Amino acid sequence: MRVLMSLGIAASLVMASTATQAADEKEIKEAIEYRQSAFSVMGWNFGPLGAMAKGDMEYDAEEAAMRAERVALLAKMPWEGFIEGSLRGDGHGADTDALAKIADNRDDFESLQTEMEDATAKLAEVAQQDDYAALRQQVAATGKTCKNCHDEYRADD
Ligand code: HEC
Repeated sequence: MRVLMSLGIAASLVMASTATQAADEKEIKEAIEYRQSAFSVMGWNFGPLGAMAKGDMEYDAEEAAMRAERVALLAKMPWEGFIEGSLRGDGHGADTDALAKIADNRDDFESLQTEMEDATAKLAEVAQQDDYAALRQQVAATGKTCKNCHDEYRADD
C-alpha cells in the first residue's frame, strides 16, 4: 500500500514537472528576449557616447548627459534575464550568445556586472559636468567593462 502510494506520488510529480517544463520553456525564451532587449537599448544609448568620445560625432553636453543617465539605469536591467536553463546549450532552442560557462562562473559574472554598473554610475555623474576630457576617459573605462564580460561570456559567432 505504502509502495503504491509513493508510486502514485512519484507519477504525479513526474506529471507536474512535465507541466512546469512547458511553462519554463516559454519563460526561458521571454527571459532571453528580455535581456537581449535590455542590452540592445543600452547599446543604442552607449553608441553616441562612444562616437563622441572618438570624435566621430560632435560633442553635445546635453545629449551626453541624457545618454549616460539612460545607460546607468539600463545597466541594472539585463541580469534578471539570466534565469536557470537560459544559456547556450541548455536545450531551449532559442538564439542566445550567452555562453554556458556563465553557469559555472556565477561569481565572476556577477562581479563583471558590478564593475559595469559602477562604471556607468560614474559615467552618468561625469556626463553632468560638461567636461569633455573626463567624459572621454569614463566612456573608455565603461567600454572596457563591457568588453571584459563579452570577451569571456558572450559568443562572437
Ligand atoms: C557581465 C557581463 C556583461 C557586461 C558587463 C555587458 N554585457 Fe553585453 N552581453 C552580455 C551577454 C552574455 C550577452 C548575450 C546575451 C544573449 O544573447 O542572451 C550580451 C549581449 C549584448 C548585446 C547584444 C544584444 C542583442 O541584441 O542580442 C549588446 C548590444 C550588448 N551586450 C551591449 C553591452 C554594452 C554596451 C555593455 C557595457 C555598457 C555591455 N553589453 C556589458 C554580457 C555582458
